[in-house]
Amino acid sequence: MNSTIVTTSRSPHGNTRKIADVIATELGAQIHAPGPEAATAVAAADLVGFGSGIYWMNFRRSLREFVASLPAGEGKDAFFFATSGFPQPPVLARYMDGMQQALEAKGFRVVGGFHCRGLDTMGPFGLIGGVNKSSPTASDLESAKAFAQHLAS
Ligand SMILES: Cc1cc2nc3c(=O)[nH]c(=O)nc-3n(C[C@H](O)[C@H](O)[C@H](O)COP(=O)(O)O)c2cc1C
Repeated sequence: MNSTIVTTSRSPHGNTRKIADVIATELGAQIHAPGPEAATAVAAADLVGFGSGIYWMNFRRSLREFVASLPAGEGKDAFFFATSGFPQPPVLARYMDGMQQALEAKGFRVVGGFHCRGLDTMGPFGLIGGVNKSSPTASDLESAKAFAQHLAS
């Protein structure tokens, strides 16, 4: 299976990149930043992952714009993943729903989603060294590995 991952980590902690690296290792996938090279890789892939940190309740704009710029997915398998400072709200304004909907609207077949907390040093949190100081944790990385193994099977 030819897998590719399109991801962007904005914070200096690279939280989402840590998750991307684990998933990529399990899938034997290449990692690309959103852009023309990534678009070529997506076109050639059987399975595509899209991931970023959550900024202002959503995936990073560059990733959302990249998805919007893609041609129709034509049933290609896709998954998404994210890290965030706080848990995803249980009902309203769920961080990851927009990405799932955008991928489905493009014609991808969404086969899974992964989320965990990430070190968050935004604004005042930075004054106390951040929240979720050790996230993603070793357990989060194990969960990401299990998620990827499930995708591969
Ligand atoms: C400007 C800014 C906005 C953020 N907005 C949110 C948010 O709306 N919800 C949340 O849970 N975390 C939020 N965070 C925390 C990030 O989602 C978290 O640190 C994430 O793990 C960063 O991922 P990255 O290292 O891959 O960029 C925000 C962080 C920053 C700096």
